[in-house]
Amino acid sequence: MTEALFTPTRLGQIEIANRTVMAPLTRNRAPDLRPTDLMVEYYRQRASAGLIVTEGTQISPMAQGYAWTPGIYSDEQVAGWRKIVDAVHDAGGKIVPQLWHVGRISHPSLLGGADPVGPSAISAGSKTFDGTGFVETTTPRALEIDEIPGILADYAKAAQNAKDAGFDGVEIHAANGYLIDQFLRDTSNKRTDAYGGPIANRVRFLTEVVDAVVGVWGPGRVGIRISPYSNANNVGLDSDTQALFGAVIAELNKRPLAFVHMVEGATGGPRDWPEGALEALRDQIAAPYIANNGYTREMALQAVADGKADAVAFGRAFIANPDLPARLEAGAELNPLRPALLYGGGAEGYTDYPTL
Ligand SMILES: Cc1cc2nc3c(=O)[nH]c(=O)nc-3n(C[C@H](O)[C@H](O)[C@H](O)COP(=O)(O)O)c2cc1C
Repeated sequence: MTEALFTPTRLGQIEIANRTVMAPLTRNRAPDLRPTDLMVEYYRQRASAGLIVTEGTQISPMAQGYAWTPGIYSDEQVAGWRKIVDAVHDAGGKIVPQLWHVGRISHPSLLGGADPVGPSAISAGSKTFDGTGFVETTTPRALEIDEIPGILADYAKAAQNAKDAGFDGVEIHAANGYLIDQFLRDTSNKRTDAYGGPIANRVRFLTEVVDAVVGVWGPGRVGIRISPYSNANNVGLDSDTQALFGAVIAELNKRPLAFVHMVEGATGGPRDWPEGALEALRDQIAAPYIANNGYTREMALQAVADGKADAVAFGRAFIANPDLPARLEAGAELNPLRPALLYGGGAEGYTDYPTL
């Protein structure tokens, strides 16, 4: 009998051949901020995933927080993505870009000298890589309320660009302490206007982004990633995570999403949360559910078989194992990750991991 993990399903309108998803993984291999032929090869190698979520892809120049991450705002970038999409489709896979605005997780050296922007002028006290080394993220400039429509327009334009590049849909990055997450949490959002204060106000930016992107793509093609119990990028947990993310999920449930993708616990770290809390949030989600964070083969088989997840996203395992679904199905050994080669560089540690 075939395990459920290896069977097809639908995430909204996106039909996937198996439930093993490639998680979004920043690799900093786009020196000109647009996809390269090496990136085409990397994604082609991983096209046996039921769905690939690309690395975080900035929606505008101000949305960038690290050196050499690809964008999706210029015609050259769209042309580069088109090659990746075509390669993945030719190999029978499905692919969505992760639409990314880093907010305060940046540095003027990456932004043409401008200060990063965020909901409030509060530094993350985190680090970023600017191409020369690791630098402290700087204190952001608080966005003026009349700048928000421009950012929503950037999301809509990026969503349209993704459509023009032939992607199967998009994932909105609302996780890991980046701009949307910064608006959500009372640790990073101290605004006193319609986008700050009560939970309903802090959720407003997220819902407006979702509406802008769904406005471009229509029903069943837009997914979103959240990470309620993650302190990634030093964002700070909200003072009431259950109430905040309960409200987020209630708003998401009113919209025709393809999927909700959740980082369970600390991103890339412990699967830690108050007992039953994350499960309670998960059970409120109406859309197809993609689970992530620290999943082993056994955990993934179980989660899908039990109906706790429609699909499971793997990050580090997909970096090191281009043929991960086949390995999981065969119960084969996995290649170890070479962590020193994650960020930047060329083919080494990128396209040279062997298949079975
Ligand atoms: C090298 C690397 C880059 C990552 N880049 C992103 C990213 O661009 N967007 C995102 O949402 N998460 C990113 N993550 C987090 C992963 O998607 C995933 O949540 C994390 O690795 C935990 O899953 P795993 O245990 O299967 O690796 C990154 C993780 C790693 C290791």
